[in-house]
Amino acid sequence: MASRREFLAWSALAAAAGTAAPRLMAAEKGSDNTSSGSTADPDAALPGNPPLAMNRFPPEHKYGVGGTQLGNMYRVTSEEEAMGMLAAAWEGGNRHFDTSPWYGLGLSERRLGRFLFDKDPSEYLLSTKVGRLLTPDASIENVANWKGNLRTNYRYDYSADGVRRSIEDSLQRMGVSKIDLVYIHDLSPDNEDMGQEWEQYFEIARKGAIPELERLRDEGIIGGWGMGVNEIAPSLAAMDAGNPDVILQATQYTLLNHRDALDRLFPACRERDVSLVIGAPLGSGYLAGSTHWMYKTDIPEGFAQKRDRISAIAREHGTDLRTAALQFTAAPEVVGATIPGARTAEHARENQASMTVEVPAEFWDALKSEGLIEEDAPVPNKA
Ligand SMILES: NC(=O)c1ccc[n+]([C@@H]2O[C@H](COP(=O)([O-])OP(=O)(O)OC[C@H]3O[C@@H](n4cnc5c(N)ncnc54)[C@H](OP(=O)(O)O)[C@@H]3O)[C@@H](O)[C@H]2O)c1
Repeated sequence: MASRREFLAWSALAAAAGTAAPRLMAAEKGSDNTSSGSTADPDAALPGNPPLAMNRFPPEHKYGVGGTQLGNMYRVTSEEEAMGMLAAAWEGGNRHFDTSPWYGLGLSERRLGRFLFDKDPSEYLLSTKVGRLLTPDASIENVANWKGNLRTNYRYDYSADGVRRSIEDSLQRMGVSKIDLVYIHDLSPDNEDMGQEWEQYFEIARKGAIPELERLRDEGIIGGWGMGVNEIAPSLAAMDAGNPDVILQATQYTLLNHRDALDRLFPACRERDVSLVIGAPLGSGYLAGSTHWMYKTDIPEGFAQKRDRISAIAREHGTDLRTAALQFTAAPEVVGATIPGARTAEHARENQASMTVEVPAEFWDALKSEGLIEEDAPVPNKA
């Protein structure tokens, strides 16, 4: 019987060409992207990353798709919606997909894997996460924001063995032969299962998950690793403890909150040559018009007024809030991609359109002159 190490090594052999592909595609094509387009303009190309960008793992495009809605975040996403969303994203040229065992306790990975099954692995960039191992449990219905009859439980494991087991489980659950990026998930003080104990979990990861992911990268089994977290402190800690390639920083860089990331995160990433992927660029829906801000319905003071004002200025300049929110998060040179979640095909097409339309420079000037975004925040075409 194959050992876990052998299992991963076999899948690495099968995947070797695919894992390197996003970088090669970026280098070969440069910014001359040929992706097909959006609802707004079927010929519009997704914005690309420059060839041989400074970052170690630049995805081909500045835009990817999040996997939380595939995992029934807030409400059950039907199979039809899930597959329709993925098909629309693919048709629009999107080739960067993020998921996690945590999203719907395996549901998001299963759906994404089903969709990717007949796709050429060299054509897409796939990221998933480690840190939670899943176990069958008939008594479980909903967990946290994940809805539906999940019948699955989870436990944390940031050890070296836990990471290998998690990657093996994800490969099997998705039925794919490669994973490009692996993020250490939710090892962070905002994780309600941990709180301040996150530092103890981090010590386990420092000795276990981090060196193991570096070995897996060096063996060519994964393309790169990083943190997938909602606070900045664990991202900085990972850059001290190891040599990450990409940080999936969620909830810290949006139109409405970006000062801390500009001050603490961006300089550290530049110094360490680490790319950023921006999670929750729509504030978990608030910047697309929903009532959730960062997975809660408590809206911070002043945000409603700010959102209304930015929307009004956007309309005056012929654009909209969601477009501004998405383009803002993709603008900095240190950002490799922004990955909004989408529930339906319509969302996927709309978000794609938002990433391809031109927003007038005067719009960004107006936001800065009214103090609605920070003066030193990079904006499109001036990043
Ligand atoms: N710790 C981590 O690693 C971490 C944390 C957070 C996020 N992430 C990653 O980042 C991705 C994005 O985050 P997210 O999905 O949680 O939040 P988000 O991208 O900020 O917002 C997604 C929500 O916005 C709404 N939406 C999206 N497009 C829309 C459109 N065109 N029109 C109207 N509403 C629209 C949908 O709301 P409805 O629900 O109402 O349909 C959707 O649930 C995740 O999927 C995940 O891959 C990672």
